[in-house]
Amino acid sequence: MARIIDAPLTHGESGGCDPRAVHGSWGALNAAAQRGLAYTPAARTKTDALYERVKHVVPAIEWPAYAPLIAAINEMKHEKNAVILAHNYMTSEIFHCVGDFRGDSLQLAREAAATDASIIVQAGVHFMAETSKCLAPEKTVLIPDLRAGCSLAASITGADVRLIKARYPGVPVVTYVNTSAEVKAESDVCCTSSNAAAVVEWAARAWNSERVILLPDEFLAKNVAAQTGIKIIAWHGRCEVHERFSVEDIAEMRAAHPGLVVLAHPECPPDVMAAADFAGSTAALQDYVVEKRPAKVVLLTECSMSDNVAAAAPDVDFIRPCNLCPHMKHITLEGIYDALKYMQHEVTIPEDIRVRAKHAIDAMLALPKERPRAFATGRPEAAVELV
Ligand code: 13P
Ligand code: SF4
Repeated sequence: MARIIDAPLTHGESGGCDPRAVHGSWGALNAAAQRGLAYTPAARTKTDALYERVKHVVPAIEWPAYAPLIAAINEMKHEKNAVILAHNYMTSEIFHCVGDFRGDSLQLAREAAATDASIIVQAGVHFMAETSKCLAPEKTVLIPDLRAGCSLAASITGADVRLIKARYPGVPVVTYVNTSAEVKAESDVCCTSSNAAAVVEWAARAWNSERVILLPDEFLAKNVAAQTGIKIIAWHGRCEVHERFSVEDIAEMRAAHPGLVVLAHPECPPDVMAAADFAGSTAALQDYVVEKRPAKVVLLTECSMSDNVAAAAPDVDFIRPCNLCPHMKHITLEGIYDALKYMQHEVTIPEDIRVRAKHAIDAMLALPKERPRAFATGRPEAAVELV
């Protein structure tokens, strides 16, 4: 069950749900001091405009803790020709103040392939950094904290995929990008939550197959099966953040907030998807809020996302179920500072694995570029064959 916190965030207060509190401004203040950084007039001048982007979520009293690290990171990026790819789940002071490219996994993968910077710092989790390295092998790819993993990526190995392929010869293998390079290397094509249904439909056509193997997220597989009607062979991986949402949560929130619009990420269980008003990738959820401007909305996804979308839709009232991704929250400003200063922690992939994994990612990127595809809600749960 998700912990529901619905205190609206206003300028100068952080409300009840504060993902930054996991590490917090105290942590950042100490970290800045340990690195010889202070909120000097120069740091203030360099960061005043950035504060405007996050003042809805970072109280003014906390800003002097973050600003010196932000100023120093932005300077180092410039000196070292580095870019920061920031996922939608980063806390706002990272997402809005040091991120050069921001978005969902698919958008960040496209940016990694296109950037001409020499260093990529992945403000996200390890599988995202590996995706960047696969696409940009000549660049140095850094992950600020090696603990930034993912429960889905950890659920399956390359050896598991080889066994599945042996059991279902001729059936195309689609893997979610939330997997290791080793798993991608065993796959025919990758997908993200933005394009999962389109990729599965394409794979079924291209292989002339009635069935498609879609790994490793059981719920994503069921949700794609409900969208496409294609027979899916699935694995039992789960996202530890999204599996916690329930239909009871939705019922409670709707009762407490009449008129509430419920948006869900497709890693949520099928009954949650059925009870939502709209579903899609983090980019699709952001687009929905920015374009439709619902009066009151809840995003059934990771906590920080609401803070980040709120910057682009300040008139929308966000109800905030507090489900943090502990892996994403290992990424902090001081971790990013140290990554750039000491060039740590470099992501490397054995070349034979990288080349095969890139093949699967390239197959996804070669498909026609379309807007993040929404998942229709209200559909009954579809059966999948669990390996
Ligand atoms: P998106 O591809 O929607 O950004 O999701 C990534 C992720 O890790 C969701 O939990
Ligand atoms: Fe993995 Fe879930 Fe965290 Fe995304 S939110 S990185 S899928 S554990």
